[in-house]
Amino acid sequence: MTRSSIWGTGRSLPERVITNADMEKLVDTSDEWITTRTGIKERRQAAPNQSTSTLSIDASRRALEMAGLHAKDLDLIICSTISPDQPLPSTAAFIQRGLGASACCSFDLAAACSGFLFGLTVADQFIKTGQARHVLVVGTELLSRYLDYNDRATCVIFGDGSAAGVLGPAREPAGILAAEMHTEGAFADHLFIPAGGAARPASCETVREGGHYIKMRGNELFKVAVRSLEEVSRRVLEKAGVTTDQIDLFIPHQANQRITDAVRERLDVPEEKVYSNIARVGNTSSASIPICLDECVRSGRVKKGDLILMAAFGAGVTWGGVLMRW
Ligand code: ACO
Repeated sequence: MTRSSIWGTGRSLPERVITNADMEKLVDTSDEWITTRTGIKERRQAAPNQSTSTLSIDASRRALEMAGLHAKDLDLIICSTISPDQPLPSTAAFIQRGLGASACCSFDLAAACSGFLFGLTVADQFIKTGQARHVLVVGTELLSRYLDYNDRATCVIFGDGSAAGVLGPAREPAGILAAEMHTEGAFADHLFIPAGGAARPASCETVREGGHYIKMRGNELFKVAVRSLEEVSRRVLEKAGVTTDQIDLFIPHQANQRITDAVRERLDVPEEKVYSNIARVGNTSSASIPICLDECVRSGRVKKGDLILMAAFGAGVTWGGVLMRW
């Protein structure tokens, strides 16, 4: 079976920057607390006329251009998001319409911060089995629309952004070498939006309570995150018969700089091989890993033949890893 590889990447970030000093004006927090506890200095916030799909279309166009493909070449669009434009239809349908990718199938995937890696894994299966040739995977979030700006435990962490990858049959030596996806629903209540769905539909009461906002048990998640990121990284490396010292670049989900540091130490990866942009963009959930990847590709940090390990962890809880050669 033919392996798949990423032919092109692209990202789109809103222009508006929200600094820690801006956050100090909104909630009882400090630049010192946010910096030392999370590593975040600033994050982006979408303008009122932007939506999850408009940012995604922008990012996808750039990825298609790098891949040397047109929207009409796509067979499948997978959109990973937990902040969709609307509950119905999928954000992927809006992306498809915006791109003019008329002859393909599209759907959303909800795995929070692990979503882009889940999307890559699904795309890889479609390409390997010959069901699809060109697949667009978008990781995209407008979490600012789901945040309670009175809740200091969440509003300082998350940011908006979008990034995409276009996959096709591997151009040797590139390709996805190993992938892993996991979910443990027992921890579903660690990060959630309690209302606005079928179990608790929107009402004046749910709005009054702020039930449509993200709630997070950060401390509990922290421990699960470190453990699962280490485990899943080891599993994909083992699957591919690769050791940590062979990795050229490690891109962990940007949840918290302290999580990244803990995982890096446990895996014994040198600091210079670990990518981090959390200081500039915060936690952008599904968009986190593809934004990092696009920054690395466009800045020349990634070179042909490099071994890249990516690992993510998010609500669900979900976690996953992908090892690929660029
Ligand atoms: N400013 C100042 N103080 C704060 C803030 C803030 N912004 N937020 C919380 N605090 C306070 C708390 O109220 C608490 O005060 P108390 O001791 O008086 O009760 C104290 O700081 C410590 O709170 P903790 O929650 O224990 O802080 P912690 O050091 O764990 O940091 C954080 C919180 C940054 C959220 C961390 O737990 C974390 O990063 N967790 C993991 C998040 C994650 O991985 N999420 C999954 C991915 S995201 C996705 O899937 C969409």
